[in-house]
Amino acid sequence: MVSRVIPVDPFDLVIFGGTGDLAQRKIVPALFRRYCAGQWPEATRIIGAARGALTVDGFREMVAESLRQHAPKRAKDQEAVNGFLQRVEYVSLDALTEEGWAQLAEMLNADRIRAFYFSVGPRLFGPLAEQIRAHNLATPQTRIVVEKPFGHDLESARALNATLAAHFDEGQIYRIDHYLGKETVQNLMAVRFGNMLFEPLWNSQYVDHIQITVAETVGIDGREEYYERAGAMRDMMQNHLMQLLCLIAMEPPAKFDPDAVRDEKLKVIRALDPVEPHHIVRGQFAGGADGRGYREVVGNPRSTTESYVALRAHVSNWRWAGTPFYLRTGKELVARSSVINVMFKDAPHSIFGEEAGRHANALSIRLQPNEGITLKVTIKEPGQGGMRLVDVPLDMSFAEALGPENQDPPDAYERLVMDVIRGNQTLFMRGDEVEAAWAWTDPIIAGWQARGDVPKPYENGSTGPGDAELLMKRDHRRWQGINP
Ligand code: BG6
Repeated sequence: MVSRVIPVDPFDLVIFGGTGDLAQRKIVPALFRRYCAGQWPEATRIIGAARGALTVDGFREMVAESLRQHAPKRAKDQEAVNGFLQRVEYVSLDALTEEGWAQLAEMLNADRIRAFYFSVGPRLFGPLAEQIRAHNLATPQTRIVVEKPFGHDLESARALNATLAAHFDEGQIYRIDHYLGKETVQNLMAVRFGNMLFEPLWNSQYVDHIQITVAETVGIDGREEYYERAGAMRDMMQNHLMQLLCLIAMEPPAKFDPDAVRDEKLKVIRALDPVEPHHIVRGQFAGGADGRGYREVVGNPRSTTESYVALRAHVSNWRWAGTPFYLRTGKELVARSSVINVMFKDAPHSIFGEEAGRHANALSIRLQPNEGITLKVTIKEPGQGGMRLVDVPLDMSFAEALGPENQDPPDAYERLVMDVIRGNQTLFMRGDEVEAAWAWTDPIIAGWQARGDVPKPYENGSTGPGDAELLMKRDHRRWQGINP
């Protein structure tokens, strides 16, 4: 099974912030890989736009270097690199002045798909949108792509939505949550809606609870200023974990189309109850043998920003009433592991008697690394000694099941950037979705501020603060391990 490449029409893609970290680390290498796959035609142009006074050759050198670093396998093919670089242009441009805009206008082709990628801080989203309009650069075939963070709270997200809506239709706005571009995250939908097996059990009658874990080993080095203001709640929970929760909890959409999918996700977010303060645990890494503590890293000995958050959420609708969702994410943890565990209820009655013990099925969907699915099933323990039961895993690694040619799944940005060009918004967040996610998040953060909440310290390289275990223990449950 080799992935199919569906070619897109020629396009002009302008990357504002083209010399920045995200552009060079993710967007440009993703475009390069799609170029190598033959997905986009020769006539295409990638235009880096930034304030620096670089020459086109200088920019191409920068791009060549990032390809070597971030797409090393493909970058060994010098012919491919040269071909790609021929399609790369540069314009020195300032979002806040007239500098560069006339030049950019001249570079664009009137009859092509046009995409403007806002790979810049949110304070420039408004000025960029205005400049694009003022210079008549927006054609009916124009799309804009905006990165997270989309706002800092509900109010700022609303203001951003209003600013963008003043210049573009919602159908032209692509809000990125890169988790939606991950192959395995899309697989959540395939597993749920492509199999008859799971869906009948996918409700509170059969599911005891669901755990969503996104554990990271990385810290926040190099992003101290942003992270101090964001914390794990804004950086991860409001968006990536929220999206995972939506995909796990939503009703089957009638079709796999942008509005059908996003309508269902929105219903989930709107059905979320406010989270009780005693159902949330905040943590902050405190250092240890494995490195420095958060406060030392940010240079603020009194910082109360959380680098870890665990909480219990409830989706109040017919399907999920009574089934809690436990979500946790944190930095500097023991392993990098994103996994969703669907924990089924015990069988209603054991015909094997008390001594056989209690056994329940569990479905684990590993999003990264080691992508795959494990179903825990109960069987008879072999040998004499009566009917003793034991749990064993039915384990499937996607890489093994799909063959060696699929060992290296495409990066999220490859899928997302091509979807922008195709005009498919299914894997992008709609304005109302983002606002609903903030409406759920804001009171949680406001509560911490009102109570002067201080996050619990946890050791670098651990599984997080001990209180997160208590959150589960109180409910007579426990977290599944964080395994690489
Ligand atoms: C980003 C967050 O959106 O996602 C980072 O800002 C986080 O803090 C990253 O590390 C995680 O992404 P991935 O793809 O490495 O799981």
